[in-house]
Amino acid sequence: MSGLQVRDLSVHFGGVYALKGVALNVPSGVCVGLTGPNGSGKSTLVNAVTGVVDARGDVRVDDRPLPLSRPGRAARLGLRRTYQTPRVHDELTGLENACAGHHVMTGRMVTGALLSRFRSARAERDRRRDAMAALGRVGGDSAAPVRGSAMPYGQRRLVELARVLVGEPRVLLLDEPSAGLNDVETEALCRLIRELTDTGVAVLLIEHRIGLLNEVCDQLVVLEEGVTIHQGAPRDVWRHDRVRAAYIGDLSDAGA
Ligand SMILES: Nc1ncnc2c1ncn2[C@@H]1O[C@H](COP(=O)(O)OP(=O)(O)OP(=O)(O)O)[C@@H](O)[C@H]1O
Ligand SMILES: [Mg+2]
Repeated sequence: MSGLQVRDLSVHFGGVYALKGVALNVPSGVCVGLTGPNGSGKSTLVNAVTGVVDARGDVRVDDRPLPLSRPGRAARLGLRRTYQTPRVHDELTGLENACAGHHVMTGRMVTGALLSRFRSARAERDRRRDAMAALGRVGGDSAAPVRGSAMPYGQRRLVELARVLVGEPRVLLLDEPSAGLNDVETEALCRLIRELTDTGVAVLLIEHRIGLLNEVCDQLVVLEEGVTIHQGAPRDVWRHDRVRAAYIGDLSDAGA
């Protein structure tokens, strides 16, 4: 299967499991929403797949096995991610931050961006053109000359998103990308996700906002305390008692 396949993924911190045997598929050209209450393991799943935290399980990208607990391996298979708290380098401008998408391996990002200043003028022009186009695509043009340290939160998000686009994702993991965006920016984000899936990108969207999930996701996966409690079409998922209970308490106990 092309896209992302996750089987039996488990992560524990000390003796406490943050994920217990989670499975999900994000086929190419499809947006899968990942939701669930705070602390249910959504960000941990992204951290596990990208090798940021130790994990056990079977993860494949375009049918190729992805070694776990090895940061950097995921990027080599075309997997890109954004962070729940956007990561933008404070010393670099929006344009330079976006250019760093060419150097997708974590840790080498800043060095790469700085080194690129010394590369051939033509290659550098191409990189800057791609980065500027990516900023335009996410509606973040105005951030191009702004240093990371001076960017408001929403702008940091757009710049981070531009950086991952520059890295030409095959599989894109977005951890609450709409947090801090206004309505216009959120609408642009939805359009962007649709454009990406139309060109065959597999998108995993972590999100709490039901409207947004309904609008862009083909499938939803709901986690609670590290296990999958439901998978299905977005419009149906909220009808299930277990999902509703996970969010707002057991409705039958509440007399609902
Ligand atoms: N690095 C870590 N060390 C120890 N515990 C962690 C670590 N990262 C996450 N956890 C714990 O794992 C569980 C899942 O956390 P995670 O951040 O994945 O939840 P989440 O679903 O993303 O929540 P939210 O909606 O608040 O972002 C929580 O109990 C959290 O405290
Ligand atoms: Mg999270």
